[in-house]
Amino acid sequence: MTSANGDKMLRVAVLGTGKMGGILVQGFLKAKLLPAENIFATVGHAERAARLSKELGISVTTDNVEAAKQADVILLGVKPLQVADLVKQIQPSLTAGKLLISFAASVKTSAIEDAAQRDIAVIRAMPNTPSMLGAGIAALCRGRFVSDEQLEIAQKIFSTVGRTVVVDEKHMDAVTGLSGSGPAFLYIIIEALAEAGVNVGLPRDIATQLAAQTTYGAARMVLETGSHPALLKDEVTTPAGCTVDGILELEEGGLRVTLIKAVKRATMRAKELAG
Ligand SMILES: NC(=O)c1ccc[n+]([C@@H]2O[C@H](COP(=O)([O-])OP(=O)(O)OC[C@H]3O[C@@H](n4cnc5c(N)ncnc54)[C@H](OP(=O)(O)O)[C@@H]3O)[C@@H](O)[C@H]2O)c1
Repeated sequence: MTSANGDKMLRVAVLGTGKMGGILVQGFLKAKLLPAENIFATVGHAERAARLSKELGISVTTDNVEAAKQADVILLGVKPLQVADLVKQIQPSLTAGKLLISFAASVKTSAIEDAAQRDIAVIRAMPNTPSMLGAGIAALCRGRFVSDEQLEIAQKIFSTVGRTVVVDEKHMDAVTGLSGSGPAFLYIIIEALAEAGVNVGLPRDIATQLAAQTTYGAARMVLETGSHPALLKDEVTTPAGCTVDGILELEEGGLRVTLIKAVKRATMRAKELAG
């Protein structure tokens, strides 16, 4: 991938290559977004840096300032409460034209601009863990100093690991509660469906495959037909058939309301994380 004016290959730093950062780097490498030598990762502990460097075949150090200096695009992947300190630490490397992309939950673009103490381009992103397989979704919003070209670069980066949507910053905590936390909610649903399969006599491995592929297939139906989920549900629901009996149990058990409450609670928590 090349820079905004297309004259050179981009160099990307990922500062805080933990679970999410690691997933993104693996996704970038798998999608051949960049050659390995153009990715500069950092972590907090030297021994983890050495292990990760071997594992991923890229430069991994604990030197944020040097990694930021090397890169055109700097991804911030530390915990929300660490973001401002990290930005202050790399401030001398934030020369004109550099793009900061934070994927920390809760941290506002204005807080990052303030910590940088200069008119720096900041994009806030909220990716999710299926990015590892190229099946993620990342919502992006732009800070005050981001050009259209820089937003396009961020979209290109995240589109190598899934879909992207651009939203207003006021929606980012809701995105965190829905698609950031969402994989965990859906794993619980898949686990419960598989458990149900075992309960009605299926071998566990078959029940897990049936549950996971059904979830995947249903998600693809929504995305690829563009039909409303309620209409797709109606197509499965034969009058006086078995599905409608199952749906009655779901409604009585409050699945719908429980999921709505889960996303609302996760959204509220996302508002608090940056302190
Ligand atoms: N997990 C998700 O599904 C998800 C989804 C979207 C966004 N996020 C966001 O991603 C961020 C990280 O979350 P995570 O789940 O990936 O947590 P994590 O696994 O704990 O990752 C944090 C990473 O930051 C590193 N680190 C700590 N201090 C550092 C420093 N001073 N300089 C450089 N690296 C440092 C840690 O290094 P060591 O390993 O050496 O301690 C660790 O690798 C959070 O802000 C979160 O909101 C997470």
